[in-house]
Amino acid sequence: MAVFTELIQSPYAVQGLVISLVAVLLSIFWQDLADEIPHRRIPLIGKDGWDPLNKKTRQRFTSSARELILEGFAKGANIFQLISVRPLIILHPKYIDEIKNHPHLDFQGAVERNFFDNRISGFEPFHAGVGGQVTVDLVRTKLTQALEWTPYNFSAKIPYVVARLSTRAFLGETLANNKEWIDISVNYTIDAFNAARELRQWLTILRPVAQYFLTTTRKLRSHLSKGKMIIDAEIKRRHLAAESESESDNEPRLQDTLDWYEQLSKSSGRPVNVSNGQIALSMAAIHTTSNLLTNVMYDLAAYPEYIQPLRDEILAVIAEDGCLKKSSLLKLKLMDSVMKETQRVHPVSMVSLSRLAKKEIPLSDGTIIPKGAMIGVSTHTNTDPTIYPSPELYDGYRFHKKRQQPGNEQRFQFVTTSRESFGFGHGVHACPGRFFAANESKIFLVHLLLKYEWKLKGADGDGDGHAGPGVAAGRPANFDHGTEIITDPGVELLFRSRGVVEIDLAALGE
Ligand SMILES: *[C@@H]1O[C@H](CO)[C@@H](O)[C@H](O)[C@H]1NC(C)=O
Ligand SMILES: *[C@@H]1O[C@H](CO)[C@@H](O)[C@H](O)[C@H]1NC(C)=O
Ligand SMILES: *[C@@H]1O[C@H](CO)[C@@H](O)[C@H](O)[C@H]1NC(C)=O
Ligand SMILES: *[C@@H]1O[C@H](CO)[C@@H](O)[C@H](O)[C@H]1NC(C)=O
Repeated sequence: MAVFTELIQSPYAVQGLVISLVAVLLSIFWQDLADEIPHRRIPLIGKDGWDPLNKKTRQRFTSSARELILEGFAKGANIFQLISVRPLIILHPKYIDEIKNHPHLDFQGAVERNFFDNRISGFEPFHAGVGGQVTVDLVRTKLTQALEWTPYNFSAKIPYVVARLSTRAFLGETLANNKEWIDISVNYTIDAFNAARELRQWLTILRPVAQYFLTTTRKLRSHLSKGKMIIDAEIKRRHLAAESESESDNEPRLQDTLDWYEQLSKSSGRPVNVSNGQIALSMAAIHTTSNLLTNVMYDLAAYPEYIQPLRDEILAVIAEDGCLKKSSLLKLKLMDSVMKETQRVHPVSMVSLSRLAKKEIPLSDGTIIPKGAMIGVSTHTNTDPTIYPSPELYDGYRFHKKRQQPGNEQRFQFVTTSRESFGFGHGVHACPGRFFAANESKIFLVHLLLKYEWKLKGADGDGDGHAGPGVAAGRPANFDHGTEIITDPGVELLFRSRGVVEIDLAALGE
């Protein structure tokens, strides 16, 4: 005991202890610490002056990533880094063909790295690796009847409507009507991003502990456990119905994602966490589609000259096909072009093709992507005048016109990705949900445009059709957060029922 006391009292022992403790911690968290150090030999944009912890540099990324990316390319660099949470390498789109299918540029890895490598509980759906195709289902959305101009916070409300439509396709009618599930499927994503933001304020070393105290991460875990109860109950309900003798319980129904998960789980012998998988699907489907629809509606409200031609197109296709079928959606070419133009002008992010470099990657011109780097390809070519003449103009017919040239019919569809159009990514990891999203968005727009009139609040002062005193409407501005481009949830659109709806939408469908 005396020896021990003596040891403790010896300054060397304490020093030794501290050093070995630090060494142990360093070895555990070395990867995380190393992750935060900028890469050597790659120009760093956005850092000036004394900022050893990169606090100011990170803030600049959050507020002005757009300017920083322009600055990097204006300096003639084809590769440079910004400091986000960790360094993010931005590549010029000229490398896109080398990046898109590279076996050592890991797609899922980039997501995992951004969401704590599955070490924090509550973020499991980010690690479920869910992709896959889902069948589209025609459904009727119900906005309430509105005779007067009624304000609608489109970007805040539309996720709930998209969630119902998506759930209807993914999980069937019962859960589409389950308000608690709809709430969870919308809120999980928002709350996960909030929790991630809060958690990143903590030192990496403290995060595994902090996760148990932060209300944001606790909320995530509560969403997951409630979600699990709802999904388990639905599975049980289906098994009971299948065993039931009564015919009404045993109505044939379409297979959906729940059946597929079950089959996948059986055939691969791998336990698939079904409820987390469902939340991952919602995460992929709801806010991306809502963002697109919000941007389309803001554009249509700002440039109302497209609305009547869009209605005419819908009516012509319905007249031709007798009703609105899945294949009718392919014929809505102006609508397809409007959606693609909106995605060009208002993409969800300033970078696409996010990847994690598993190895050092030399590119054809000698540029090196370091091992362990997070990379993304800049989408600034969306406004490159050599690709898109008058890029600053919103031209709803832009892609429609291109498709009319011989040989171009498929090349400029909303769902087609290319070197020039990679809002959905490009190559093997291009968003697999884009076909579903395109069909779903078209169905939404058919309903929104045929049933309602839309305009921007402030297009005229009091919504009575007469211009108000000095109120200019203009396209509602999006705002930037880091490389993300977000629609303003406070913007109100005004809508009212159209007097005459040319056809009975309730009668449409297959
Ligand atoms: C989801 O978010 C809305 C709006 O913030 C809130 O009213 C609702 O209670 C939340 N639901 C859940 C299950 O967290
Ligand atoms: C699935 O995830 C939920 C929530 O994270 C968890 O409670 C449950 O135990 C998991 N189920 C399986 C089979 O791993
Ligand atoms: C969307 O519609 C197109 C055109 O009919 C079809 O080819 C495609 O399979 C649909 N996508 C999904 C996911 O249903
Ligand atoms: C829309 O959002 C704004 C800002 O959040 C809010 O003040 C307004 O009351 C909302 N309007 C409606 C109709 O919900």
